[in-house]
Amino acid sequence: MKNILVTGGSGFIGSHTCYALLAEGYEITVLDSLANSSKRSLDQIIKIFKSQDLDFSNKLRFFEGDIRNKDFINSIFKKAVEEKKPIDGVIHFAGLKAVAESVLKPLSYWDNNVFGSYNLISCMKENNCKTIVFSSSATVYGISSESLLIENTPLNPINPYGSTKLAVENLLNDVNQDVNENWKIAILRYFNPIGAHNSGLLGENPLQKPNNIFPIIINAAYKKEKLKVFGNDWPTNDGTCIRDYIHVMDLAEGHIKALNHLFTQKKQLIHLNIGTGLGHSVLDLIKTFETVNEVKVPFQICSRRDGDVCKLVANNSKAKEILNWNPIRSLHEMCKDGWQWKLMNPKGYIL
Ligand SMILES: NC(=O)c1ccc[n+]([C@@H]2O[C@H](COP(=O)([O-])OP(=O)(O)OC[C@H]3O[C@@H](n4cnc5c(N)ncnc54)[C@H](O)[C@@H]3O)[C@@H](O)[C@H]2O)c1
Repeated sequence: MKNILVTGGSGFIGSHTCYALLAEGYEITVLDSLANSSKRSLDQIIKIFKSQDLDFSNKLRFFEGDIRNKDFINSIFKKAVEEKKPIDGVIHFAGLKAVAESVLKPLSYWDNNVFGSYNLISCMKENNCKTIVFSSSATVYGISSESLLIENTPLNPINPYGSTKLAVENLLNDVNQDVNENWKIAILRYFNPIGAHNSGLLGENPLQKPNNIFPIIINAAYKKEKLKVFGNDWPTNDGTCIRDYIHVMDLAEGHIKALNHLFTQKKQLIHLNIGTGLGHSVLDLIKTFETVNEVKVPFQICSRRDGDVCKLVANNSKAKEILNWNPIRSLHEMCKDGWQWKLMNPKGYIL
């Protein structure tokens, strides 16, 4: 049974992917600083499996620490070898992800996202582990006139967060050029992951003020406070921005497919868009959330925000073809599962 190191594994996408990894039969070693998450997400994963009469508690190890600390990362690789469960591959989620914050704290973003990733990749090389799935983002494309973004669309991030993602992509591209090393690298460019596991036990629990639209919609519905929709004068059907929302479990399953694919290869570097290929406006999302959950989402229209992009939708053909992966969950399910998570855990993972 392969052992996968999951950095940032207690976070939103990381925890759902940990669930999917265990379900697929992998063992997992989670590394997280808990800067934006709670270890309780991992306890909840074990609880979901317990409800299915499966005890996976000895298949999940957790190490609290920071990817900026190379000794710490190395100690995890060494311990895994001592326990005769060497790390076979890495899924790398750990990092900071708030676009607006990255404009205010660019050095912190380069430190966590780029220096941290450099450390991780160096430790992987030192410990002879050459298989990695990296969390990149559609933000690497910046402003594009393409109606559907394809992987070879020119990359031109317009904020420090996007620049750090592109820097790590470039680092991995360079690492792969070494002909003496058989790296297997999947760079996944996520679009807009939302929703939650359908048990209601696992979901998005940002410790900082949420920046993404979906947790903001949930909070607006729950607290009955108006959210801000930035701009209704974009060239779209209803004037609001269009995004490609993907259910977090479809995204998680994409990681499993990517990892399984890499393990069949000798040497590989792939860049894949992970989205549904369907665009929904902000008002579409709000209306769907209201209809599905029979709840009101109060909102007000404000002027456009600096740095926003009108439309970001994936051409996902490459991921579908190479990984034999298909996102199957609808916008309806994303809204239903996200709201169920909120109702069952109004304070997130805080007891
Ligand atoms: N959520 C999105 O909309 C989205 C979109 C595109 C890409 N991504 C990328 O996916 C990854 C996961 O995103 P998420 O939404 O699950 O975010 P998240 O904040 O929930 O998860 C990130 C995890 O990394 C941990 N972390 C942060 N800095 C760390 C460090 N220096 N050392 C160790 N752990 C650290 C945090 O505690 C957290 O648990 C991130 O790299 C993010 O940039 C997210």
